[in-house]
Amino acid sequence: AYLADGRFEGLKADLENARDETLNDVELWQSGAAVPPAKDPLDAGFIQWPEELLLDLNENGDNSLVARIENCAARIRETADGVVILGIGGSYMGMKAMFDALGHPYHNELSRSERNGVPRIYYEGWNVDSDQQKALLNLCEQRAVCATDNTVADARTAVIVISKSGGTMETAVSFRNFRALIERQFGDDAKRLIVPVTGDSGKLRDLSNEAGFEDVFSIPDGIGGRFSVLTPVGLLPAAVAGLNVRQLLQGAVAMTDHFRHADYGSNAVLDYTAVGHAFEVDQGLTTRILSTWGSKLEAVGLWYDQLLSESLGKHEKGATPLTVVNTRDLHSRGQQHQEGRRDKLITNLLPGAPNSDPLTLPEREDDHDQLNKFAGYPLPKILQAAIDGTNQAYADDNRPTADILLPTVNEHTIGQVFQMLMLATVVEGRLVGTNPYGQPGVEAYKKNMNANLSQG
Ligand code: PA5
Repeated sequence: AYLADGRFEGLKADLENARDETLNDVELWQSGAAVPPAKDPLDAGFIQWPEELLLDLNENGDNSLVARIENCAARIRETADGVVILGIGGSYMGMKAMFDALGHPYHNELSRSERNGVPRIYYEGWNVDSDQQKALLNLCEQRAVCATDNTVADARTAVIVISKSGGTMETAVSFRNFRALIERQFGDDAKRLIVPVTGDSGKLRDLSNEAGFEDVFSIPDGIGGRFSVLTPVGLLPAAVAGLNVRQLLQGAVAMTDHFRHADYGSNAVLDYTAVGHAFEVDQGLTTRILSTWGSKLEAVGLWYDQLLSESLGKHEKGATPLTVVNTRDLHSRGQQHQEGRRDKLITNLLPGAPNSDPLTLPEREDDHDQLNKFAGYPLPKILQAAIDGTNQAYADDNRPTADILLPTVNEHTIGQVFQMLMLATVVEGRLVGTNPYGQPGVEAYKKNMNANLSQG
């Protein structure tokens, strides 16, 4: 409704141009050329185009990348009962987003058969926290020691180490520790239990070549970490976790197709970009709140926080993303969003129908809490009342909201959301003249950290 105002007429043409440029980048990318507007080839890049992977699967069957990923994942599921995913930033946040959205919320508490043979999932290498890392190392060690025969699956831990550059300190430090543990416990089998995912060159690649691990997966050169969720970076751990990676890719393909063909005004990518951009330039709404309704989508929001900040937070420009989980955060940040500074655009990410029969509110004879008047209400109805009530409260105070509504949360819709938000980030970069690839600001701390360590 806001965009229907004549002031934004030019935006349509600008966004359609940005779409053409984005699609043109794909062609350049596929032909092997660097992608503009990068001046430095290191800043050139693109999103993994999901069609390519499905095409490869159709043409090459068992030799395709998707099939190799699925086979390796099946092997890890059979031989290990825990998998530690080592990575930071774009090298783990996409996987966490998928698994939190699609996995059982108490996955690691379930028995192996309740988990359908999917290993327990742990994340490390995303910080330098001695206590936390030690706790996980001890846990993995004790599991193996407690087992009577350490060849059984329920004793074993596998490690997927993900680093595109292969030189990220946090991940490299934790890999040393976990590699030492796995080698100590399982000897030569470590070659099958450790799977690196890395670029075609770099320290982790060299180390992998030397170590002779059974499987090593590549991250295509031009695809930046935060755009790599649909490469082996996200797909391998997702497949280990029992997610349907083909459905995920098909969802992403459907969104690409929609982006390519749908008109402005009914194009999820262009419209989402337009709303964020228009409110930012017109009303100074520089804080973009992604309001997720249900904890399962929080990690999708955190993945998006990284995507937007690292891609567009440059040249003293770029909106500030912030993820909240509602209704939880209505009791904390909600105050500020309702009455604080008018610098926020709130976008609701709505999970749609629950994946199982909804809980209902039971009736009680005593009714001391006076909830009997709502007895029998399904929880989604109570949630919807909160969503509508919150939107209404913002509207009453002239605070804008937008909605992204998923029909339900599954691999297909999560694939769509990933692709939609990656495309929107690239399109917005084109629109405002910021190269979304590269993250020179992040390199600054890495350089200083390494220099500090070198001083001894
Ligand atoms: O988006 C990015 O490129 C970064 O967030 C990287 O993913 C992160 O710095 C980790 O880098 P690497 O995979 O090289 O260890």
